[in-house]
Amino acid sequence: MRRKFVAGNWKMNGLRAQLGEVEAIAAAAAAHPGVDVALCVPFTLIAPAAEVAGALPIGAQDVHAAEKGAHTGCISAQMLVEAGAKLVIVGHSERRADQCESSADAWAKAKAARAAGMHVILCCGETEAERDAGQAEAVVAEQIAGIPADADGTWLTIAYEPRWAIGTGRTPSDADIAAIHTATRARLAALTSVETAAGIRILYGGSMAPDNAATILALPDVDGGLVGGASLVAAKFVPIIEAADAA
Ligand code: PGA
Repeated sequence: MRRKFVAGNWKMNGLRAQLGEVEAIAAAAAAHPGVDVALCVPFTLIAPAAEVAGALPIGAQDVHAAEKGAHTGCISAQMLVEAGAKLVIVGHSERRADQCESSADAWAKAKAARAAGMHVILCCGETEAERDAGQAEAVVAEQIAGIPADADGTWLTIAYEPRWAIGTGRTPSDADIAAIHTATRARLAALTSVETAAGIRILYGGSMAPDNAATILALPDVDGGLVGGASLVAAKFVPIIEAADAA
């Protein structure tokens, strides 16, 4: 039985003035021990957020694949761990688009983060044009193809995030979400094993909000959510945590 997992992605939002939101989210997470909750904040907030977050795992939104070296402006997995990060998002579509990251890059980052002891949320998802062309499943299959054969759910989570649903207030139909999650798990099973795939959580991301979370979180093979805009304030994120606990 996979526990529900709800992760917030603050993206390039958040200063120390928002640490009160972290505290409120941490309190809600503690009040819902039946669901796993995490919050991925900007690099500069990792250490201060970890200080006030209690048992709530704080994460990062990117990591370099190398341990150290001449990579100006980048950050290593060890550095993140030292700052207090327990997990990291890799392969987010905004990084694929803005920083030209490939699926190979995302898996190399995942490997580095795993080696440093972090949990990894690897993102996948199609553009609107790809969905319209009937290619959504094939695109996601390519994005997850780099999964190591010995992967397992203790360190890896997949987040399916259709690019056109991110920050737009639009979501796929319930049937479309369920179909791609089920297909993605079958693909994971083919790449690893049925048993391994059954242990890897697949989150939905893209305009998840208090008013749609309960429905989405009840769909087959949806094991939680990766939440952007609605994770910035406890007033919106906590109802999603509650919905996950009830699902
Ligand atoms: P959104 O972002 O919830 O604001 O759509 C989700 C994400 O990009 O992880």
